[in-house]
Amino acid sequence: MPEQIKYNCLVAPLQGLTTGAWRRVHRAMFPGATYVTPFLRIERGDVRQRDLNDLDPESDVEDTIPQVIANGPDEFSRLVDAALERGFNRVNLNAGCPHPPQISRHRGSALVCDADRLTAIASEMARYGDVTFSLKLRLGIDAADQWRESIEVINSMPIEWVAIHGRTARQMYKGDIDIEAMEQFAQACAHPVIYNGNINSVGRIRAVPADFAGVMAGRGVVTRPSLFHELSTDTKVDEQARVRDFVEMLNRLADVLSQRLQGDSQLLSHLLPYWQLMADTLPPRAVKEILKSRTMAKYNAALARFTTQLSHLGL
Ligand SMILES: Cc1cc2nc3c(=O)[nH]c(=O)nc-3n(C[C@H](O)[C@H](O)[C@H](O)COP(=O)(O)O)c2cc1C
Repeated sequence: MPEQIKYNCLVAPLQGLTTGAWRRVHRAMFPGATYVTPFLRIERGDVRQRDLNDLDPESDVEDTIPQVIANGPDEFSRLVDAALERGFNRVNLNAGCPHPPQISRHRGSALVCDADRLTAIASEMARYGDVTFSLKLRLGIDAADQWRESIEVINSMPIEWVAIHGRTARQMYKGDIDIEAMEQFAQACAHPVIYNGNINSVGRIRAVPADFAGVMAGRGVVTRPSLFHELSTDTKVDEQARVRDFVEMLNRLADVLSQRLQGDSQLLSHLLPYWQLMADTLPPRAVKEILKSRTMAKYNAALARFTTQLSHLGL
């Protein structure tokens, strides 16, 4: 692993998960990461206000890069301008979203196979002298070598780095990472390349091939909040401590969210997706009761039982 990888640890954007509130709690517990936000979008002709509200000029501006999803220079510049107005001077372009409604509107991973649109966006980037741009993309829409259609444009873009998620859009978020294709991409790419996909332990970070300039982790940081902290301090938290960190984060998150959300169902609709991810990393049914909660009273009772039973879960 190259030494500089320690300084290039990015938290991946996860809609509904790595939100402004989550970032605030994560930063307080494990300072030092750089975050890329879930994408800001144009909806019904306007920059979506909810996305802007999730950017906190005070706490985010130092360590957070807003991400935008755009189908061309017009949408792109409107979203970049909105981020700049909030005080940010770095922007990441999404060329990886796999969802058909975005792809059919020429956004997200559609850009990997659309060198013309990418070229038009690259020209727009060049108009912003003092903004640092970056790119996040997939290997392709339905084949792992489709990035070759746009590599020339990517190499000519005024960007600081590229994060590559080692799947095609068709794979969504599951299935094997194509490391060979990722390495081919890294070798062909003129910019520093960040490795993204299934990074959930320090061991996996250390196993990243030397062609990469850093790592970006999404689900792995949500379910192991200490991930980058363990790397930078050369420490290892055991399974129980991992789960306790997660629970502590969610308790703090519930406090932050309860100040701005109304009612149990809104609060639970924000909290339970974290537990859905966590369920994949725990023994079967360990968090079944939490996931079934329909009121905060039931959620808190289930959570209390879960934490007292941690040592019996075989962790
Ligand atoms: C629920 C969810 C939401 C996501 N939202 C975004 C997003 O807004 N922008 C983006 O570029 N990628 C998004 N992704 C993709 C992740 O950033 C990342 O590329 C993918 O999860 C693989 O990395 P991981 O295995 O470390 O999670 C999302 C993934 C998931 C599972």
